Amino acid sequence: MFGMFNQLPSRRVIVRRFTPADIEDFCAYQSDPQVREYMRGNPMDVEQTAEYLLTQSALEERQTGSWHAYAVQHVESGSVIGDVGFYLVSENEGDIGFQLHPAYYRQGFGLEAMTTFLPYVFETLGLERVTAGCDQANSASIALLERLGMRRHMATGSDNSYHYDLARDEWLAKDL
Ligand SMILES: CC(C)(COP(=O)(O)OP(=O)(O)OC[C@H]1O[C@@H](n2cnc3c(N)ncnc32)[C@H](O)[C@@H]1OP(=O)(O)O)[C@@H](O)C(=O)NCCC(=O)NCCS
Repeated sequence: MFGMFNQLPSRRVIVRRFTPADIEDFCAYQSDPQVREYMRGNPMDVEQTAEYLLTQSALEERQTGSWHAYAVQHVESGSVIGDVGFYLVSENEGDIGFQLHPAYYRQGFGLEAMTTFLPYVFETLGLERVTAGCDQANSASIALLERLGMRRHMATGSDNSYHYDLARDEWLAKDL
């Protein structure tokens, strides 16, 4: 059911596939106004969330044209405190994103989750390039993307978003 991917452990978090049992933890942050401040669209309701987690738990890890979300589980409490993921544009390229429960902001969890996740993306899945977009006012996301070594394009998007990318070679050469 989980394909080749099982889980990626690090010191304070485990990055793993979602399961339907994560619904309560997921709902605790997914619709939080602080989390959604710079996101488009509406949060999912409970029914949509249940369907989403079921789909995510069974998704083939190289399925292009799909959003692939991975739970960030807090080792100490066992709770899911956020997620990281990518939209798989093609077999070589993904557009990444992340969100955390606000109670865990600014404690290095975002960086820890992404530095655990990106080796999987580049070295296991073998993507050649990742991209990311974020609102120009989203200073937390900007700081995290730049901390990961992502390069910002000079031109801003027509919607005033910033666009970033990172090639596998750049990631491998980087000493975080
Ligand atoms: C973006 C997000 C995941 C960052 O997670 P986090 O765990 O707080 O980030 P970290 O503690 O790992 O910090 C990573 C870097 O960002 C910086 N940072 C974090 N929050 C910041 C903020 N609000 N303003 C400025 N810098 C910030 C940290 O100082 C750190 O940089 P440094 O290592 O150079 O000091 C979190 O703020 C979030 O979930 N935001 C809402 C969802 C969202 O907008 N996602 C992105 C959609 S594109």
